[in-house]
Amino acid sequence: MRGTREWYAEVDSTQDRALQLAREGAEEGTRVVARRQGRGRGRLEHRWESPEGGLYLSVVLAAPDEHASLLPLALGAYVAEALGRRYRIPLSLKWPNDIVVVNGRAPSRKLSGILVDRVRSPKLGAAAVAGIGVNVTTHRAELSAAVRERVAVLSELSRVPCDLEEVERIVVEAALTAASSVRTATGLKEVRRLCRQRLWGVGRRAEVDGRPVGTIVALGDEGELWVEDQGKRMAIRAGDLRVDETP
Ligand code: BTN
Repeated sequence: MRGTREWYAEVDSTQDRALQLAREGAEEGTRVVARRQGRGRGRLEHRWESPEGGLYLSVVLAAPDEHASLLPLALGAYVAEALGRRYRIPLSLKWPNDIVVVNGRAPSRKLSGILVDRVRSPKLGAAAVAGIGVNVTTHRAELSAAVRERVAVLSELSRVPCDLEEVERIVVEAALTAASSVRTATGLKEVRRLCRQRLWGVGRRAEVDGRPVGTIVALGDEGELWVEDQGKRMAIRAGDLRVDETP
């Protein structure tokens, strides 16, 4: 595998360390992994709780020159595909790139979150650092009451034994494949197909940043989410999406 691997028993944020390495010219595939994080960062300035048992990984990627907005979705879709195949569980993509488990009428639960930071690299030019957290063998008791019941844990879902290092290898390979796919025409076609196939929530009502936006109707070619309200269509390109989960 390309790039070097830096491992920490504990670090504030693998993302911050990988960003530093990218700025210093690290090659694609360089990764930082930690057993625990003191200040794990999530999207939209959220905190990412990081007790032992989770995968906390940040990987340096060459960013595409075009269609860059598809990279976060592609990462979610390829990681969901690879983990779902290995651990034999159905995983869905909640826009833009949460990996969730949807089980009948029960609320969806988040297995993995992905944060993409863009950075200039002296080696790669436009680069991105993908920070990926996966609940692998996490003990719910070590999570705050606010998130404890909303997460999915891989080892609770799968009959296949879950080993952190194996999950790490699968996720790194999926992230590199996702990034290289966004850079080629044939890859892009597959990225769009996979994202649409995995996307959860079409046909459901949604809110973005607390504001009702209508019903989710489709995923656009650049990764934007199309919603429809009273016959009017609108593209959502950023924000905190809440999907109405009432059956
Ligand atoms: C989200 O769903 O809000 C994204 C969560 C991303 C968490 C990962 S864990 C590894 C990397 N280091 C961080 O500080 N954050 C990301």
